[in-house]
Amino acid sequence: MTKTMLVTGASKGIGQATVERFWSAANDFDTFVLLARPSTEFEELRAHLAEENPHGKRFFFHEIDLNDLDAIRELLPTLVTEAGSIDYLINNAGFTAPAPIHEVRFDDFERTMNVNLFAPFVLTQGLLHAGNRFEFILNIASTAGINGRSGWLTYSASKAAMIAMSQVMKEELAIYGTRVVTISPGRCATALRRTLAPDEDPSTIMQPEDVAGVIELLASDHGRFVDSQNLVVRL
Ligand SMILES: NC(=O)c1ccc[n+]([C@@H]2O[C@H](COP(=O)([O-])OP(=O)(O)OC[C@H]3O[C@@H](n4cnc5c(N)ncnc54)[C@H](OP(=O)(O)O)[C@@H]3O)[C@@H](O)[C@H]2O)c1
Repeated sequence: MTKTMLVTGASKGIGQATVERFWSAANDFDTFVLLARPSTEFEELRAHLAEENPHGKRFFFHEIDLNDLDAIRELLPTLVTEAGSIDYLINNAGFTAPAPIHEVRFDDFERTMNVNLFAPFVLTQGLLHAGNRFEFILNIASTAGINGRSGWLTYSASKAAMIAMSQVMKEELAIYGTRVVTISPGRCATALRRTLAPDEDPSTIMQPEDVAGVIELLASDHGRFVDSQNLVVRL
């Protein structure tokens, strides 16, 4: 049976690598619903998928700012209409504006919570309300949500909350046969990581494709046998 996958934050980093991996493989995933804000990277991904489509898959692109929760609510009916059902949901999009406690701007904190926690909630709950039955939900948290990091107050708080929210989703959605998996990546060479650690050499840490490979395993039939509240993925 064919499946639909929705990926937030599809334009770059782990989200993009995940889309590319599932897109290029001969698998059951024939429809991709991709969300990110407008950017050159998102446009390039759109062009690339249109050009390189060896398995005749289809995609829907939505340019949306996940900080705008009303925009997500407005988009929901379209998602349901175009895709039919969302079988696999990858809550990947993430934002950070690292600052020590004295310098945290409250609007940055709100944006961080909106993008990293409330947007996945609004998307998941909205689709449930629309009658969608997920097979698989993958929530991306972070090792920074397990141990708070100095200078990363807002990001760590959002990811700790994501771990807890995901745990509850896992319990509550089990009755529908939905598998909910949380992963907490460690250092991975992406734009977000550059914001958190500008001086780091990206070639020395995990690459987005490595995390995408783990996501592919977890989404596979074998992934059913991995039972964990929060899987740490790191080099
Ligand atoms: N890289 C790491 O070391 C690391 C470690 C642990 C966890 N993570 C988590 O992994 C996930 C993916 O991050 P990444 O490392 O791959 O970073 P990335 O390359 O910077 O990608 C982040 C993605 O989130 C999207 N995004 C950010 N703000 C958004 C907004 N307001 N509306 C819509 N989309 C938005 C970005 O899209 P646009 O900016 O184009 O809209 C982009 O596609 C995040 O949840 C992150 O917290 C990363």
